[in-house]
Amino acid sequence: MGSTPTPGTKYMHKEIIIDVPEEKQALAELEKRTDAEAIRMKRFLAMPDLSRTPSSPLYEIVQKALSAKSLEGLDIIKIPEIVPARITFDLFNMPAGHPARSKSDTYYVNEENILRTHDTVMWYYYLTLPEIQAKVKRGESFGTICYGKVYRKDEIDNRHMNVFHQFGGVWFAPMSGADKAAIGLQWREELKRVLTDISHNLFGIDVKNRFNNDNFPYTDPSMEMEIEKDGTWIEMLGCGVPRESVLKNFGVENYTGWAFGFGLERLAMVGMQLPDIRLLWSNDERVKKQLKLGTVYKEVSKYPKILRDISFVVPKTFVPNNYFDLIRDIGGDLVEEVTLLDKYENDQKFGADKMSYTYRIIYRSVDKTLKTEEIDPLQQKIESETKKQFGAEIR
Ligand code: PHE
Repeated sequence: MGSTPTPGTKYMHKEIIIDVPEEKQALAELEKRTDAEAIRMKRFLAMPDLSRTPSSPLYEIVQKALSAKSLEGLDIIKIPEIVPARITFDLFNMPAGHPARSKSDTYYVNEENILRTHDTVMWYYYLTLPEIQAKVKRGESFGTICYGKVYRKDEIDNRHMNVFHQFGGVWFAPMSGADKAAIGLQWREELKRVLTDISHNLFGIDVKNRFNNDNFPYTDPSMEMEIEKDGTWIEMLGCGVPRESVLKNFGVENYTGWAFGFGLERLAMVGMQLPDIRLLWSNDERVKKQLKLGTVYKEVSKYPKILRDISFVVPKTFVPNNYFDLIRDIGGDLVEEVTLLDKYENDQKFGADKMSYTYRIIYRSVDKTLKTEEIDPLQQKIESETKKQFGAEIR
């Protein structure tokens, strides 16, 4: 572990880098593999961290958030990209059977390790540091920020990518007083104050926000914050008071505080009215020079789309999220959206263990006009891999 002070925009934040041998070992094993899922995960891991790329609006959002006075004094922690499922799920109150653990939602590097699905797992890495455990013994308050890439299997449309970025913060303070319910309420109010400050830094002092009750396994109470943008309320983040039972898993008792986490792409898209998440990864100068917070994105030009449908019959064990990954592997960011046109079973025709699917793949580039000659080989490859990887019969 290294620890060096680095300047934020206004305030100093000590930077803590967590370096674990387990990650290196899992990476080395992944490096040797050549199966489709391994190649995909390697590609994801190699993608740049846009929250640390100065030309990206995601970096700008991080800088703005860091200039909130309420985050003064918090550390910045960099945690592994590959993390144990045991830590991410078991210790955060998501026991066996919890949907987030499923292999159709999470990328498993091997049976024990996953690509991190959210930055909240940083609580573990932070609280188990010897220097923090020493602060706990002395009854001090402390907190940290964590941001970077996270990975989740997802559908394909213009608002979702399976690699995206989050920014989270957490503050821990010794519990004072015996009335737990009152303490929870008190910290919930503090959380509202902090998040209102952050949203002022991000969206300006006039932005309205509101909080609704929500549910997260590791916080209680839990809330979501919405902000008002052009007359509509937009969900912006999840937050809450860390659960005592979860903190206990990290060897911390009689502590409370607040925590939050938000997606950077979402804020960038809302802030600049971006029509497509892929624009954040564009190398087109006409796009890039527009990607500045505070400017409203003007479509460079909407290039025509090319549609291709694919119908097939597959075993009922078929997992759509894994299929979307295959389409992304082959079509890359030329695929704008994949929609399900129909899905049905017909025991007599296909057999009781089979299902028929028809998907429409919408190809469209954010920076050029696509030609059918370019799309045809991609579509053919998708067809042949659908057969090979999913045991499908193309119809
Ligand atoms: N981890 C949650 C998410 O990924 C956000 C969150 C962070 C909620 C901290 C509560 C506390 O959406």
